[in-house]
Amino acid sequence: MSLFITFEGGEGCGKSYQTRILFNTLNKLAIPVVLTHEPGGTPVGDRITRLLKWAKKEDISGLTELLLFNASRSQLIDKLIKPALQDGKIVICDRFTDSTLAYQGYGRGISIDLIKQMNETAARGLKPDLTVLLDLPVGAGLQRKSKQKADRFHQENLVFHDNIRTGFLELAKKEPQRWLVIDASQSRTDISRQIWELVSKLIYK
Ligand code: TMP
Repeated sequence: MSLFITFEGGEGCGKSYQTRILFNTLNKLAIPVVLTHEPGGTPVGDRITRLLKWAKKEDISGLTELLLFNASRSQLIDKLIKPALQDGKIVICDRFTDSTLAYQGYGRGISIDLIKQMNETAARGLKPDLTVLLDLPVGAGLQRKSKQKADRFHQENLVFHDNIRTGFLELAKKEPQRWLVIDASQSRTDISRQIWELVSKLIYK
């Protein structure tokens, strides 16, 4: 059965770890599954990602940034996500359209309506069946990530990151049937157990 599961959250919330745990669990059960991420996930998308993360802050305008995230998305949808779902696989994606609403909308202040239109076009109308939000206070997340080299987003101030957190929580409130909101300050094991509880219900319902 095909299922499209996305993971969202601010910097350092533990998404990458939890996506891998879910991927490994499904693999062990011989359930066909693909793990990917945004931005990137294709050769073209990976090149766009390098620009988005490592260009100088002032070299990319807000609208260009929005278009680049959606260019990367469009390629990922065509080359990987749609084909995998058509083959009946489960697709796990680390970030998707909700990141654009949170970062470019709540963070950068670009019109939410405009972002929705662009997201919809790039994603060909595809919506996740389930979105897991790993919610963490901004300070804790940035501290966890502080050992890594800071990219253009990580370098933004606390207000930017706080707006993103507010954005994700608001998005989740608007569509509670799609979102699973998890307190990401819990232990990794507790978090993966809660995710598996819901995902297994969706698979075996
Ligand atoms: P990550 O690999 O740490 O998740 O890096 C991706 C960065 O890009 C992260 O800071 C969030 C940001 N981002 C956006 O601003 N908009 C988007 O649409 C996506 C997918 C990511």
